[in-house]
Amino acid sequence: MQHRQLGNSSLKFSVIGLGTWAIGGSNWKYGWGHQDEREAIDGITHAVECGVNWIDTAPIYGSGNSEILVGRALKEIPVEQRPFVATKHGRIMQEDGTPRGDLTPENVRRECALSLERLGVEHIDLYQIHWPDPDSGIEAAWETMVKLKEEGLVREIGVSNCNVSQLERLQKIHPIASLQPHYNMFSREFEEQLLPYCQANKIGVVAYSPMCKGLLTGKFTAERAAALTEEDHRSRDAQFLEPRLSVHLDLVEKLKPLAASAGHDVVQLAICWVLRDATVTSAIIGTRKPEQIQQTAQAGDWNLDSTLVEEIDSLLKVHDTQLEELEAKS
Ligand SMILES: NC(=O)c1ccc[n+]([C@@H]2O[C@H](COP(=O)([O-])OP(=O)(O)OC[C@H]3O[C@@H](n4cnc5c(N)ncnc54)[C@H](OP(=O)(O)O)[C@@H]3O)[C@@H](O)[C@H]2O)c1
Repeated sequence: MQHRQLGNSSLKFSVIGLGTWAIGGSNWKYGWGHQDEREAIDGITHAVECGVNWIDTAPIYGSGNSEILVGRALKEIPVEQRPFVATKHGRIMQEDGTPRGDLTPENVRRECALSLERLGVEHIDLYQIHWPDPDSGIEAAWETMVKLKEEGLVREIGVSNCNVSQLERLQKIHPIASLQPHYNMFSREFEEQLLPYCQANKIGVVAYSPMCKGLLTGKFTAERAAALTEEDHRSRDAQFLEPRLSVHLDLVEKLKPLAASAGHDVVQLAICWVLRDATVTSAIIGTRKPEQIQQTAQAGDWNLDSTLVEEIDSLLKVHDTQLEELEAKS
């Protein structure tokens, strides 16, 4: 497993981080359907055995369920092998199961205390603003996070889902350790402005949904997408619906022989593609059971060569053109 320094921070992360959104379960609008708790915990402990040295979670993932499961898994891991833990704040669950933003200093402190308790840790290694919502609240939240750092309750502070102008505003107050952006072969907006900004300002990048929530694993089919239950938010995600779904699955079929020619599979190819620029510190891989991380963690030992990257680029151009044509027709 390769490691990279998280920007200018004190943390050195494995290039594969473990994502725990899905294990939060299905009791809200962005749930993932039924989750077996034992499999979730075994997935976390096995990730550490595979060399993953950090876990990403958030209070909103199942109203605390994800953090509780991470806390239970941490207790099963010998102290000297314990991974770094990253969590977030700023999304409050409403009664109807939808989140709303709250970045007030009181809420940052309240959520931090609750996360420490659920995780069963004395400090959070990386504390992140989950969404810049409301935009007007990011400075006050950031100033509070700086204080939490000074108090030793969190080690490093970062953000998620911010644009460049928001990063610029926060950098004036305190250096940002990391940005957590959405980034995979089907969602590449991050490359336009955020990647060069993070590179120039030595901000670590921990990319989320690198397998497009499972579509880029080589195991997703049109039948599986059609069978997703109401409780699984992917049943309503445009990427999992026609006309996009067929275009995406068509690309995955074309990627299979490319991955095989290098002795790997599509899921490892998709993860390594996200990591091909060293500005990206780590890819956060969602995992619901041990077998999944067993397979995906192997991407942490592989670097794509430039020929393979060029071949993937050509396929992505065809994929993008197909999508544009479909969207122009609709
Ligand atoms: N900051 C944010 O706003 C934000 C947003 C999204 C995600 N994140 C973070 O990033 C993490 C990863 O993103 P993600 O969970 O959205 O998507 P992802 O990592 O692209 O996909 C994860 C899903 O793919 C499937 N999968 C995983 N390994 C597999 C394998 N080996 N074979 C087949 N299927 C496999 C699993 O779902 P099934 O088994 O059900 O198919 C899993 O839940 C999250 O858990 C979270 O920590 C953060």
